[in-house]
Amino acid sequence: MTRTILGIESSCDDTAAAVVRQLDGKTAILSSIVFDQGVLHAAFGGVVPEIAARAHAEKIDHCVEQALAQAGVALRDCDAIAVTAGPGLIGGVLSGVMCAKGLAAATGLPLIGVNHLAGHALTPRLTDDVNFPYLMLLVSGGHCQFLIVHDADRFKRIGGTIDDAPGEAFDKTARLLGLPQPGGPAVERAAAQGDPNRFALPRPLLDRTDCDMSFSGLKTALLRARDGVMTADLSLTASDQADLAAGFQAAMTDVLRAKTARALDLYVALSPTEPVLAVAGGVAANGAIRAALTDLCAERDVRFVAPPLSLCTDNAAMIAFAGLHRLARGDSDDLTLSARPRWPL
Ligand code: KG4
Ligand code: ZN
Repeated sequence: MTRTILGIESSCDDTAAAVVRQLDGKTAILSSIVFDQGVLHAAFGGVVPEIAARAHAEKIDHCVEQALAQAGVALRDCDAIAVTAGPGLIGGVLSGVMCAKGLAAATGLPLIGVNHLAGHALTPRLTDDVNFPYLMLLVSGGHCQFLIVHDADRFKRIGGTIDDAPGEAFDKTARLLGLPQPGGPAVERAAAQGDPNRFALPRPLLDRTDCDMSFSGLKTALLRARDGVMTADLSLTASDQADLAAGFQAAMTDVLRAKTARALDLYVALSPTEPVLAVAGGVAANGAIRAALTDLCAERDVRFVAPPLSLCTDNAAMIAFAGLHRLARGDSDDLTLSARPRWPL
């Protein structure tokens, strides 16, 4: 049986559309188009919701057209339209939902609202041969959580951040250190030249045995450490900048490794036949974090799965893929589908 689905994603600062096809249980990404709005927000040091919403509204139709053209598929040959219906910045989510509703109304195709987090959480099964249940660590600019993925529609959250997401902390750190946005790659580059032990930065919540994390105290400690070494003209020497970046990245890596170890304890207690830790989100691109998680998994005899970065960060192929699961169950939404800024799994 062949099923072809159009996916649409616009919940943060990427406008994306993709066509995914499932044929006899095998899935192929026929196209995946992503317009990254990064340059529009760079000057503001973070995503500006109004700018994001306008840019999504401007780009989304073009993005869908390109995804269909690149896949060589006409809309009428698709079996359904899947769209991120939340959680996310409401203006952006609305752009995607309105676009998908318009296409569904015009063609009569089923409309499938997808939870953005479910899209990320199911990605390892799009790229790798991974069985349920697996442990997912989602670490992005907006999210940070451990999920045990029991099934395509059954997720158990066993912990996460109680304040900032790791990507947000990397971005704020870059701002504090005068490094460019997006902060993650800039901090990682600076950290490569620095001494991670020069500044004693905290590892918050490691005294607690749960899987919850907190990064706002780390940011405040970094601010104090920076102010202590700032030159008279309020700048940082290159070596101070590198040491602060390295100290921050080391603290973040230690926290993620220690909390992942606890999450693995809870997960492995379920006796999965082949234990898997999968990661998603932009922060999963970080070399130090990846290395720490790879090492932890080797120690625990757990398979580590990291999808290619283009599928770890926001994209519409993951939304189409999550939509396929609902389509297979004969499940869809009607044109009253609403956009949800908050939508826990
Ligand atoms: O998943 P993503 O593209 O977007 C969402 O937030 O949904 O993640 C973007 C985040 C940004 O905060 C960025 O600074 C961070 O991922 N990031 C990194 C690295 N590359 C991107 N953080 C640490 N190290 C990196 N190499
Ligand atoms: Zn995301």
